[in-house]
Formats: sequence, structure tokens, C-alpha cells
Amino acid sequence: MKNKALILNLKDEKIIAEYENMAWKPLEKGEVRVKTAFSGINFKDRLALIPESRVIRKYPMVPGIDFSGYVEESNSSQFNQGDQVFVTGLGYGTDRFGGFSEYVTVKENDLCTVPDGLTLKEVMQIGTAGFTAALSVDAVASDESLKGKEILVTGGTGGVSSHAVMLLSKLGASVTAATRTLEHAAYLKSIGADEVILFETLLEKRKPLSKERWDGVVDATGGEATGNLLTEIRYGKTVAVSGNLSGAKFSATVFPFILRGIRLQGIDSVYATKEKKMSLFNRMAREWKLSNLDSVICKEVEFENLKEELLHETQGNGRVLVIFR
Ligand SMILES: NC(=O)c1ccc[n+]([C@@H]2O[C@H](COP(=O)([O-])OP(=O)(O)OC[C@H]3O[C@@H](n4cnc5c(N)ncnc54)[C@H](OP(=O)(O)O)[C@@H]3O)[C@@H](O)[C@H]2O)c1
Repeated sequence: MKNKALILNLKDEKIIAEYENMAWKPLEKGEVRVKTAFSGINFKDRLALIPESRVIRKYPMVPGIDFSGYVEESNSSQFNQGDQVFVTGLGYGTDRFGGFSEYVTVKENDLCTVPDGLTLKEVMQIGTAGFTAALSVDAVASDESLKGKEILVTGGTGGVSSHAVMLLSKLGASVTAATRTLEHAAYLKSIGADEVILFETLLEKRKPLSKERWDGVVDATGGEATGNLLTEIRYGKTVAVSGNLSGAKFSATVFPFILRGIRLQGIDSVYATKEKKMSLFNRMAREWKLSNLDSVICKEVEFENLKEELLHETQGNGRVLVIFR
């Protein structure tokens, strides 16, 4: 059997990407071979092409931090041939071979069953970005209804922010989206934003305690905006930070924490527990199910054209769905 994969190697400080046929190894106990149906180019997969990012620590590496497909062969009592499954994060595509490959060998505990109510394609339309958005929305809601709540989402037209805007709108929140250009306002409103503001306004310096403005913030940009938003979040509410598009550092004081009891919640999709992942994907298959998943800016490419797409597109161009035939 052949297993065509896109393999990255490091040569003279440059990343070389080539399609290769990989050896077909027998499965060890607890391993499952997945025939890939869909994968995606995520923000991290683009970073993986920049050696200084150190996203990939050892070469050769097959990138692709998330993928869905069918069980081809199983050496696990938990999975049977033909099961529809998916993986997000957990070091696939960075520390062990990931989804840019016709077949991927997966440890049984890393593999999730596609919930009833979602297809293999929908699971990857959601992917890591959508899962990160779901973790953020869940953190911001902290078991309360979001109906009528004023929630800010940073990260413009990106995958995380687009999914967050759609989920929050579905849950009845009043959503404000922050983008670097108002040219993106029509798109953001079409997916559920009630208001659109310029991201640069979030960088203007604030007093340690500004006027309370938000019932929650889904923050994919990080940087100084994060520190500023801590001063504007309402009493007891949460800023959920998942990204660093705008920078890694921010300044803050303790005052919003000790006088308003606010929370700054870090969001990590990579090592979120399987229990948390399944609970959120199950929700996204049912009460959080989005009928407008196709509205997210998401280019579709065939696996054969992935190398060209990966090498020629730069960061910040949104998510790409990779289709295997
Ligand atoms: N914690 C986790 O588990 C996790 C998981 C996935 C992603 N992330 C992180 O979340 C962030 C967003 O990821 P993504 O997948 O949504 O990325 P993406 O799809 O590439 O989207 C990035 C979007 O952010 C806006 N943007 C770009 N550069 C910016 C800047 N310097 N300042 C402010 N906004 C900027 C742009 O929208 P506009 O042009 O409309 O402003 C762009 O479309 C990244 O930092 C990524 O590393 C974290």
C-alpha cells in the first residue's frame, strides 16, 4: 500500500516541502490507521514553514495539525474499520506525523469519534480554529446564558474569531467584532456581528479601571489590547485569550482583578482533555450546530495542490480545507 505524504525537511536553515511515499509500518498495540478525508491549513501550519517559529522541533515532519477520516485498520478495542474519526492538536503535525498524508497512524486515546449530527467535512470546517472558538465561548459563558450579553471578539476575519462570532450570535449574544479594516465589516455582519469596530481603537491607552463595557471577550489577538480589555470587562466577567496575532506582551494592573473580580482565562486547544473536546464537539453537533459553516472564509484545495498552496500563501489568510480523494 502507498501512503503519499507532504514531508517537511530542514536544509541550510530553509524548509523544503516534498511529496513522498512513506513506508507502511505495522500497527503497534493501541494504534489506529486513519484514511484521511479532510485536513486543514491552520495558522500553526503556516508558522511551521518558518524555521525560527520552532513550531516543528524535529525533521522530517508531516504537518497538518488536524484531520478527519475513516478507520482503515485498528489495533485498538476502541475503534473498528470504517469508523468516522478526527484528531485536533496533541502534537500531530508538529511532534508526530500529522494530517497532510493519505494515512495517519494515531494513538487510540488521541482519536475522537465524529459525533452524530456532524459530517467528516463539517468536523474539519470547524477544526482547530472552531474548537478554540468553542472553548473561548464556553469560558466566557461560564455556565450562564449569553442571551443579550455584550461580547467582544478580536481577531477580525480569522478562523477563531469567525467561529466565535457565529457561535455567540447563535447563542443570542450581542456581538461586537474588532477588525483591522472596516472593509471586512460586511463579512463580519453577514456571519452574525451586530457591530464592527476597528482593532486599533483597542490599542489606545486606558485608565486602570475604564467604563465597564463587555460581558465577555473572546481575544484571539493578545498584545496590548488584552491589557486594555481587562480594564473594560464588567464585574466578575471573563476575557478568554487564545492568540498573539498582535503581540505577546501586555501591561495590566491588579485593580480590575481585585476591585471587579474579573477573570483572564487562557485557552489552549492543543492539550484540552478528550472529555472537554468531545463535550464541545457534541454541543457543536446539536444545540450549538451552525447552519452557516460554509460562510466562514475557507478556501478548498485538493491534497495534490496542497504544497503549492502552503508555499505560496502567507500567514493571516484564513483557513484552508484540504480535501483527499
Ligand atoms: N490557543 C489555541 O489553542 C489556538 C488555536 C488556534 C489558533 N490560535 C491562535 O489564535 C490566533 C488566530 O488564529 P486564526 O486561526 O484565527 O488565524 P487566521 O485565520 O490566520 O486569522 C487571523 C486574522 O486576524 C486578524 N489579524 C491578523 N494580524 C493581526 C494583527 N497583527 N493584529 C490584529 N489582528 C490581526 C486578521 O483579520 P482582519 O484583517 O479582519 O483584522 C486575520 O484575518 C493566532 O494567534 C493563533 O496562533 C490559538
